[in-house]
Amino acid sequence: MNKDLQSIVLTEEQIAQKVKDAAKWLDERYAGKKPLAVSVLKGSVMFFCDLVRAMKTPVQIDFMTVSSYGANSESSGMPKIVMDLAASVKDRDVLLVEDIVDSGYTLLRMKKLLTDRGAKSFTTVALFDKPSRRQVDIKADYACFEIGDEFIVGYGLDYAQQYRNLPYVGILKREIYEK
Ligand code: IMP
Ligand code: MG
Repeated sequence: MNKDLQSIVLTEEQIAQKVKDAAKWLDERYAGKKPLAVSVLKGSVMFFCDLVRAMKTPVQIDFMTVSSYGANSESSGMPKIVMDLAASVKDRDVLLVEDIVDSGYTLLRMKKLLTDRGAKSFTTVALFDKPSRRQVDIKADYACFEIGDEFIVGYGLDYAQQYRNLPYVGILKREIYEK
């Protein structure tokens, strides 16, 4: 385990099982459809790549970079679109893939943006849900794992752009982000 972590939340094996379960749920939901899968970068990148490969549904993929944190462990409340999608979402079944729903501001922003652009349907899958931190009334349609008020890193999730390439997810020691 990385020395900056206090404990492991999900091992590689546990992540693989969560991905499989989410893919099955999505395949049932999208039977006969060709959704546009959107990765909210950078945090969801690992989860996104594993998830779309575990799905049997034919999907198109696209990417959007949204930033809300800077070098901080608290959301700014004003998520910024740093890089927009290449594809049009008009009349598409959009599958939004998020790493974690925390305050909910990012998800709310994305949902409004994509429905305003004419998406036919909007489904969100998140690897993690932190319900105790919610500031706005919104929920992922499918969340793989619920956690308390802890700051987690790994498997795409960062603190100040670090730890994203850990293959597992762990709780970051408080002394790392409270110094
Ligand atoms: P929001 O507060 O729901 O808008 O979440 C914004 C983004 O903050 C998420 O998509 C993550 O990228 C990031 N985030 C929230 N909680 C954590 C965490 O515990 N570790 C790493 N990133 C997080
Ligand atoms: Mg994110």
